[in-house]
Amino acid sequence: MVAKIFSAALKGLESQVIEVEVACNKGLRSFNIVGLGDKAITESKERVSQAIKSIKLSPPQAQAKRILVNLAPADLKKEGSLYDLAIALGYLLASKQVRFNPQGKLILGELALDGSLKPIKGVLSFSFLAQKEGFGEIILPKENAKEAGLVNLQERQRKIKIIGAENLAEVISYLEGRKEIPESKVDPQQLKRNFQKFEIDFGWIKGQLHTKRGLEIAAAGAHNVLLQGPPGTGKTLLAKAIVSILPQPSFEEILELTKIYSIAGLLPKERPFLNQRPFRAPHHTSSEVSLIGGGSPPKPGEITLAHRGILFLDEFPEFHRDVLESLRQPIEEGEIAIQRAKYILTFPAKFTLIAASNPCPCGYFGDPEKECTCTASQIASYRRKLSGPLIDRIDIFCWVPSLKYSDLISPDKEGQSQEIRKKVGRAREIQRERFKKEGILTNSEMKIPQIKKYCQIDSPSQNILKKYVDKGLLSARGYHRVLKVARTIADLEGREKILTDDISEALSYRLREG
Ligand SMILES: Nc1ncnc2c1ncn2[C@@H]1O[C@H](COP(=O)(O)OP(=O)(O)O)[C@@H](O)[C@H]1O
Ligand SMILES: [Mg+2]
Repeated sequence: MVAKIFSAALKGLESQVIEVEVACNKGLRSFNIVGLGDKAITESKERVSQAIKSIKLSPPQAQAKRILVNLAPADLKKEGSLYDLAIALGYLLASKQVRFNPQGKLILGELALDGSLKPIKGVLSFSFLAQKEGFGEIILPKENAKEAGLVNLQERQRKIKIIGAENLAEVISYLEGRKEIPESKVDPQQLKRNFQKFEIDFGWIKGQLHTKRGLEIAAAGAHNVLLQGPPGTGKTLLAKAIVSILPQPSFEEILELTKIYSIAGLLPKERPFLNQRPFRAPHHTSSEVSLIGGGSPPKPGEITLAHRGILFLDEFPEFHRDVLESLRQPIEEGEIAIQRAKYILTFPAKFTLIAASNPCPCGYFGDPEKECTCTASQIASYRRKLSGPLIDRIDIFCWVPSLKYSDLISPDKEGQSQEIRKKVGRAREIQRERFKKEGILTNSEMKIPQIKKYCQIDSPSQNILKKYVDKGLLSARGYHRVLKVARTIADLEGREKILTDDISEALSYRLREG
């Protein structure tokens, strides 16, 4: 007899249905799994047998039969141990030790030797698949059930039954109708709770008003930023502080972030979702794969882990040139394509970049107080790195100068981040409304036709920009970036019209255009 159980495999952030077919035939005693499995699947044979034994049923090795497990489609490379439960149930069904109808059920989970179910990665992606492919229920390890249940919080979507089980015996009792398992549900209020404790408040950072405002604009419109200045002026501090003013992610964004962090195995232990924007600060020695993703099995890289949040490249001229170069395409496209043997998978990568650097190797080039000790060629080679692929993508340039003593002793402004965060949140809301039909969320994502439509300016503003362009102070690329930033500045005021002041302020963040 042949039994067929439905399971699933990850393909980037998405997933695909896998049919686990188990045939139990007369013949020489054997137990094989085919379908391009990796080592984990071979090991799965051992776990499945042991788990079945532990619940006093007869394992494959005890049958005088030929047992063949086929994971289809065969051409998709399957990784991991999430098929244990499906294989065990398929075998028990095929060998007539249990009876149930596997139709409409998506079954996933790793088995421990004692038959208990161990949590798996990528669950939210699987429950989306179940919903899309018309499955009525999903059966999986209890620890994963809340995460899977997020799918049911979507409005106007078909609900699926989420069954989280502790072990193989419980799954069998449930499937044979001998035991009820209550459905797992997530309290939607929980998603709205802010769990984040911010390390740094904007109000603690002294002086640097121009940069703080630059970061406020960046947070509001998701604009990329470059911070430049001598060492010890607070560049790293300012970049880290930006998380405290980022707006809460929307429900759709929470689902996206949760999917990514689930696949990476990085969901917080205490809750099954991610409801805060990520801040990723990879070290300058990071490899290309760790930054952009890949490997086998393909894992999201830092740029995907920074999706809808911040990617901070501190001391960015220290990064390897090839690594910086590899960021060009994902920044442009908002996603990264990873080539596999038979298919291409994509991970999203819509992040806000914050890059920080000293102006030269010693750090004091252009400093009014301290003398720069670099040679002309050192400065030139440093500059070349700065004018590389990333600089083209920067909307906001901030010069972060040395602090004055009077700034340093000024009192803290407690709670400043919270105030700014509210403003930023409102500005994002305006953008969300504006771009409802455009398929984007923020001003920084506008392409030229959208800039033309949404960034209309009056003639005095046009005259200012004309002067800058004619004097060679602003390139065509810079021109469009100024318009986008000015749009965000107006949005922060809740104002439809872009004023000359907005243009002037946006220009103040372009002056170091290299
Ligand atoms: N503007 C500032 N306000 C308050 N503290 C500051 C400021 N700038 C620097 N500091 C202090 O100096 C330390 C070093 O700053 P850092 O951000 O690492 O400088 P940079 O990255 O520019 O070299 C910070 O951790 C903080 O304690
Ligand atoms: Mg620093």
